Amino acid sequence: MANFRVLVSDPISEQGLASLLEAEEVTVDIRTDLTPDTLLQVIGSYDALLVRSQTKVTAEVIQAGVNLRAIGRAGVGVDNIDVTAATQRGVIVINAPDGNTISTCEHTFAMLLSLARKIPQAHGRLKAGDWDRKSFVGVELNGKTLGILGFGRIGSEVAKRALAFNMRVLAYDPFLTRERAEKLGVIMSSIEEIVEGADFITVHTPLIKETKHLLSSEQFARMKPGVRVLNCARGGIIDEAALVEAVQSGKVAGAALDVFEVEPATLANRLVQLDEVIITPHLGASTEEAQINVAIDVGRELLHILRDQSFKNA
Ligand code: NAD
Ligand code: MLT
Repeated sequence: MANFRVLVSDPISEQGLASLLEAEEVTVDIRTDLTPDTLLQVIGSYDALLVRSQTKVTAEVIQAGVNLRAIGRAGVGVDNIDVTAATQRGVIVINAPDGNTISTCEHTFAMLLSLARKIPQAHGRLKAGDWDRKSFVGVELNGKTLGILGFGRIGSEVAKRALAFNMRVLAYDPFLTRERAEKLGVIMSSIEEIVEGADFITVHTPLIKETKHLLSSEQFARMKPGVRVLNCARGGIIDEAALVEAVQSGKVAGAALDVFEVEPATLANRLVQLDEVIITPHLGASTEEAQINVAIDVGRELLHILRDQSFKNA
């Protein structure tokens, strides 16, 4: 029987990876402390590499992975993997597109409510011993317009929850049809209609050439004064420098960010320092359920690839 070697180089739920860990013909090495140099040294002896988002699977890593047949990403975004280099070398890249949809949607909704009611700011003030009720007057979601840019798995789940909060939901996605919009109770809109008409704007696209700085100074200038924006998708979809200016000028009343142009984000990022901006360190998919789900999905498909069986990918 063949013996396949799989390297897991980021923390990934072992419960979710059970099918891989228990497969007789597979040896799994979990090594989450590898430096980029060590990864380059060891990758040559593995048939598959399994990562979350920390490991940067560069063209160099793929080149050094002379036996690599597949790279699995326990999550949605494959932007930490050089997919072009992998494709050129015939290495299959798979992800787990469904397993963290609900967790990321719920995180977005938690951010939406926190942003509207300034909960993180009020929490911080009271923890510092200051009973301040005047500084934290918020706004209701009820009756407000939410604009969703990117109406895929997460965007459409966010819409369902917003409708339950009695929000009016505008959605833009190049693949959205009028029938689907009507079925889900949202208003199919252009980017311009969302930018000019929404009280809250949330982005749920991948980060690709077309979506880089989808919201930039030009769009901020056309937004309603007091608009609030959210990004729980990928850093760079909103132009961070333009957002800083829009918040400082008062045009944008607040922002909620789970993702950043440079991660980990530090105090050097001006958005981290602005009171009106609430932030989390890329926690959208960080629930017990999502981490088990994505590990199950990617582990199963990786096993299919190693066994030369048909496999599913996004
Ligand atoms: P998805 O593929 O289901 O949906 C993305 C949608 O964006 C698609 O419907 C696509 O048609 C649309 N789109 C593409 N280009 C567009 C454009 N130019 N303008 C508007 N829409 C466009 O993906 P998803 O699972 O909903 O994930 C959405 C984003 O969230 C991705 O960037 C993903 O990496 C990110 N994500 C983040 C976390 C987190 O931890 N914060 C967790 C999961 C996913
Ligand atoms: C994803 O793309 O799935 C997210 O970045 C979630 C993650 O793995 O942290």
